[in-house]
Amino acid sequence: MLRDEDRIYTNLYGYEDFRLEAARKRGDWDGTKDILARGRDTIIEQVKESGMRGRGGAGFSTGLKWSFMPKKVDGPVYLVINADEGEPGTCKDREILRHDPHKLIEGCLIAGFAIGATACYIYIRGEFYNEASNVQVAIDEAYAAGLIGKNACGSGYDYDIYLHKGAGAYICGEETALIESIEGKKGQPRNKPPFPANAGLYSRPTTVNNVESIAGVPTILRRGPAWFAGIGRPKNVGTKLFCISGHVNKPCNVEEEMGIPLKELIERHAGGVRGGWDNLLAIIPGGSSVPVMPKSICDTVLMDFDSLREVGSGLGTAAVIVMDKSTDIVRAIARLSKFYMHESCGQCTPCREGTGWLARVMDRMVRGQARLEEIDMLQDVTKQIEGRTICALGDAAAWPVQGLIRHFRPEMERRIADYRQSIAAE
Ligand code: NAI
Ligand code: SF4
Repeated sequence: MLRDEDRIYTNLYGYEDFRLEAARKRGDWDGTKDILARGRDTIIEQVKESGMRGRGGAGFSTGLKWSFMPKKVDGPVYLVINADEGEPGTCKDREILRHDPHKLIEGCLIAGFAIGATACYIYIRGEFYNEASNVQVAIDEAYAAGLIGKNACGSGYDYDIYLHKGAGAYICGEETALIESIEGKKGQPRNKPPFPANAGLYSRPTTVNNVESIAGVPTILRRGPAWFAGIGRPKNVGTKLFCISGHVNKPCNVEEEMGIPLKELIERHAGGVRGGWDNLLAIIPGGSSVPVMPKSICDTVLMDFDSLREVGSGLGTAAVIVMDKSTDIVRAIARLSKFYMHESCGQCTPCREGTGWLARVMDRMVRGQARLEEIDMLQDVTKQIEGRTICALGDAAAWPVQGLIRHFRPEMERRIADYRQSIAAE
């Protein structure tokens, strides 16, 4: 269990003021100039040593991503913060933006300095109206106090931060669609490579990082990489924000150590599953883009990138969606299929056509009005999508259906049989 003194997001629950004076009392902006004085290479090295893996969902090493940025370059270089949190079940970055925006702004300065950025864009989800207001207040306060802007923190480094509002498209959370959107274009993902470090915003070297990753960086550098690396399990270290929703007694956002057992996470912080642990049917552990897990796996699995991958799911955004035995699991996954069909940008055929197929067949599966062979056909369609698309939305649409078939096939078969019987009885 995470000790209180190891928490990074100390204002997570909004008990205190989000503004500069209160943030300073909590330790933000303390010795930032000294951190910058360590130099670009040292900062990148220390973030690598900390073992921080990106908190947006993919878990790519943050320090390694920074090291891909060119060392010497003429012209603009950008840091882009992905605050377009749209994954179903996920509401962790929202808490930071709302209650702790100075942690993010300080992180933006340090990360921008480390990668040699000339400016930073924070791309915030359009629906986050109050959060955008708070972030803008924090940016204005930081400018007024000389913490960003010309000679930021007295370091000799000039750095501007701009807040850019999205317009409500899920796909704009994909880093290259987000870049297109800032450029004023339709939010459609680009082919990778080139990765943003080579050709990103306005074709300039760019790093795109998630809010939670960047807001954690100042504390990691103040307390030292070994402190962060000492929390959790090897290769899956540090503290992590979990969003627990669904059939629990006390839905919550909570910061815990990486690798905490799923059962302990839910029982300690969310008041347990409604009706008790034995009433659990299934859990989606990382937002809607990862496969669902039946209770038998939930009993023992640890909440980190590698443990969840080993059991055929993923940590994703760490949005834990709990479903008790009253849940219609086929309907729940069918709802996700509909979501992905709606959010597909339509650019590549396997995703545009495949998500439509999945949604239509899943809709019939819910009613049992499908043929048994169509379960295998569904599986086949997911395989035709997986790994064959420009961005990860295709995989994200395929995996929940694969998880359903893997763990709940008898339930799908039962519905089809029940429907057949009801027709025969008429
Ligand atoms: P990805 O694995 O393609 O990339 C992760 C990051 O590492 C990117 O910034 C990418 O540019 C970088 N990267 C990867 N390989 C690289 C290489 N060889 N060279 C340079 N840079 C490299 O994953 P992606 O598509 O960025 O994210 C997928 C994840 O996003 C999913 O796991 C899902 O959980 C999560 N997600 C989060 C949402 C949210 O609201 N936070 C919404 C939807 C999905
Ligand atoms: Fe668009 Fe889907 Fe292709 Fe992603 S996978 S680029 S969302 S069509």
